[in-house]
Amino acid sequence: MSERKKVSLPTLFKKVAEGKPITWLTCYDYPTAYLQDQAGIDMILVGDSLGMTMLGYESTLPVTMEDMIRHSQAVRRGAPNVFLVGDMPYMSYQPSVESAIRNAGRFMAEASCDAIKLEGGAEMADRIYGIVSAGIPAIGHLGLTPQSVSALGGFRVQGKGAKQAKKILDDAKALEQAGAFAILLEMVPDRLCQLITERASNCIILSLGSGPHAHGQLLIYHDMFGLYPRFKPRMAKVFGEAGKVILDGLKQYVQEVSDKSFPQTENWFTMPDEEYEELMQMLDK
Ligand code: KIV
Repeated sequence: MSERKKVSLPTLFKKVAEGKPITWLTCYDYPTAYLQDQAGIDMILVGDSLGMTMLGYESTLPVTMEDMIRHSQAVRRGAPNVFLVGDMPYMSYQPSVESAIRNAGRFMAEASCDAIKLEGGAEMADRIYGIVSAGIPAIGHLGLTPQSVSALGGFRVQGKGAKQAKKILDDAKALEQAGAFAILLEMVPDRLCQLITERASNCIILSLGSGPHAHGQLLIYHDMFGLYPRFKPRMAKVFGEAGKVILDGLKQYVQEVSDKSFPQTENWFTMPDEEYEELMQMLDK
């Protein structure tokens, strides 16, 4: 397939100005990144969800900066042309503005990311301001914020009530004023997402399970292809049952090795007769 032009911040704002939705997916490894780049995905998020989808943790909280950098580097190698976003893991930015700038800088310097994302509203505005002031594009994340899932009382829709919705609207404004170039709204009602999108002046609004009115959509790759065995969120459309295809292939492999129908001659390598004879003579000595 032909080489794509690198997706940059101006590319994203141009799409928004032209009313073209932005496509965004999570990704954590080299071969998947290659496929996503070839498919023409605009943005990739190396999410700390990799703690659950790739490392098998029960939540995102144990994920470290080292995990994030390692996976972001692999994704960048596979997808040189996408707009790559590194997700700040738990406690990489909450302790102080300085920790936030330092760790955001690591994503840029060590993994060639184009931007970072962090969770939280007005209380994180100073982190966003500090990061943006250091020359690093930043994305805010509101609504269901998995790093605070315990405080939020579980994985549930946020902003259904008027008071909570107003708080999310105010948080979005605070993040935009702090310099966030984009905000992800995860699992908020569609009408709230629409209000925030209409009120955003120089900020791209992206939706994960928050309806069609945002400037773009994000999905978790593993949910799209039936690759996460523990649960499937309602908002995730399954675009292909890759997990089932792989499981069927694995069962067939077990069967064919067991009944000796694998391997066949095309699956191994032969040695010329004369070389084999010579080897046998050497062994006779
Ligand atoms: O880590 C992640 O993949 C995320 C999404 C849930 C938005 O932050």
